[in-house]
Amino acid sequence: MKKAAAEAALDYVEKGGVIGIGTGSTANHFIDLLAGIKGQIDGTVASSIASAERLQSHGIRVMDLNEAGQLALYVDGADESNHSLHLIKGGGGALTREKIVAGASEKFICIADESKLVDVMGKFPLPVEVIPMARELVARELTRLGGKSVLREGYVTDNGNIILDVHGLEITDAIALESRLNHIPGVVTNGLFAIRPADVLILGTPTGAKTVTA
Ligand code: A5P
Repeated sequence: MKKAAAEAALDYVEKGGVIGIGTGSTANHFIDLLAGIKGQIDGTVASSIASAERLQSHGIRVMDLNEAGQLALYVDGADESNHSLHLIKGGGGALTREKIVAGASEKFICIADESKLVDVMGKFPLPVEVIPMARELVARELTRLGGKSVLREGYVTDNGNIILDVHGLEITDAIALESRLNHIPGVVTNGLFAIRPADVLILGTPTGAKTVTA
């Protein structure tokens, strides 16, 4: 189902463009499929070291975002999406660079299997990237907001930070919560992609890909 979604996203790739590439198993399917049409694009910008390495293993050019400028397209997976195409991301820990590359892209195509579409987000623990010295401060603030933070043990992000996974949230106003979390000192990024949601959600189903827009 993830591969079916990734295949459908290929339709959005335009000749000569530079494409932002997400992270995770669904994005990996997209990278592998992109290898088949790599001659048609100018290059890519990766949202993680892992995706950059996978792209390079296929001989796909990986560019620095500062040199690439505005991107036409960003393709990435998600851990949850609601019907407004607000997302929870960061299960793979790459949320900060994902949010940067998504923010630099005109169109964000989210690819996922159909289980990721939910009515209310929060069953999937919300990842929050935190500067290590602020761990306890941020955890206390998250408790005040009604969540239970669990340190992702033994994990360091590509940016040298830690991840707190926040359990028990029922996210009814994702835009407000994303903004609120961004104001806690020590928070680098939170995994809500609601202020800049996906533009198109492609869901893989047992019978093929289905496109959802907000
Ligand atoms: C990576 O940090 C995440 O944001 C992924 O996009 C998300 O976890 C989806 O991963 P899968 O495609 O592996 O389900």
